Amino acid sequence: MPEADKEGKKYYVDIPQKGEMFFLKGSNELDWGMKNRLARIFNPKDGHTVMLAIDHGYFQGPTTGLERVDVTILPLVSYCDTLMCTRGVLRSIVPPSMTKPVVIRASGGPSILKELSDEELAMDMEDCTRLGVCAAALQVFIGGEFESRSVINMTKLVNAGLRNGIPTMAVTAVGKEMVRDAQYFRLATRICAELGASYVKTYYVDEGFETVTSSCPVPIVIAGGKKLPEMDALTMAYRAISEGAAGVDMGRNIFQSDSPVGMMKAINAIVHGNEKPEKAHQIYEAEKAAAGRRR
Ligand code: 5RP
Repeated sequence: MPEADKEGKKYYVDIPQKGEMFFLKGSNELDWGMKNRLARIFNPKDGHTVMLAIDHGYFQGPTTGLERVDVTILPLVSYCDTLMCTRGVLRSIVPPSMTKPVVIRASGGPSILKELSDEELAMDMEDCTRLGVCAAALQVFIGGEFESRSVINMTKLVNAGLRNGIPTMAVTAVGKEMVRDAQYFRLATRICAELGASYVKTYYVDEGFETVTSSCPVPIVIAGGKKLPEMDALTMAYRAISEGAAGVDMGRNIFQSDSPVGMMKAINAIVHGNEKPEKAHQIYEAEKAAAGRRR
């Protein structure tokens, strides 16, 4: 027989039980599992995240810099808060001993050779939970040829995610012919949030980005977009954070850089250290030089 517990007296009757507001914008009413997953993606200390996006192969095959994910990307994973990838790469290349949270690409269909907005949901919630991911992501093509289908795909993922405690990250996709301005991104991000996305990935715009973040009731992270000179990419990240973004979900400006580790360190300094782009660029240059000396 186990010993009977001798009842203690530490009831702290004068101390009300603490309850905390969840640290992420618009997320306070979510269930515990959703919040816990979001708290693994976004650092609770500052509410920010550095996501490393390597999912480009789902529509454009072996993208420059992603030809050998095992060789070029795995060494970067320790520098990110969250890895965004496809389930194919996760299962075939990423070691299960990796403990970073994963945001999984859950939409797909057309290749770069076809109409990109013609996407379907390409993964079900059962597999998301089996893989232990912290969020599922899909493209939403506001203004695109298959706009409605992509929006309804999102709501289906949101519904399944709510049943399973898995947040949805909506990605506002921009087609070749679409205008990329604050008005467009206000429209696109707000539609995603109104219809249930837990957070939204979108693009930075030089004019009025703060109106995009302020009118979206859930956190926004920015994509990096096409490869830019390192200083320009760092300046964009700095401005996005200063203007209300909760982080970056960056791919090409990291893995197509001549110093991917340098860029990871520099982006971290901006997103979590509040450093200015000039200081972050020095961090990138220093890492590049150090790597050159090690060779
Ligand atoms: C592809 C995506 C990418 O993850 C996203 O575009 C981020 O990568 P990059 O910084 O290279 O733009 O959602 O559709």
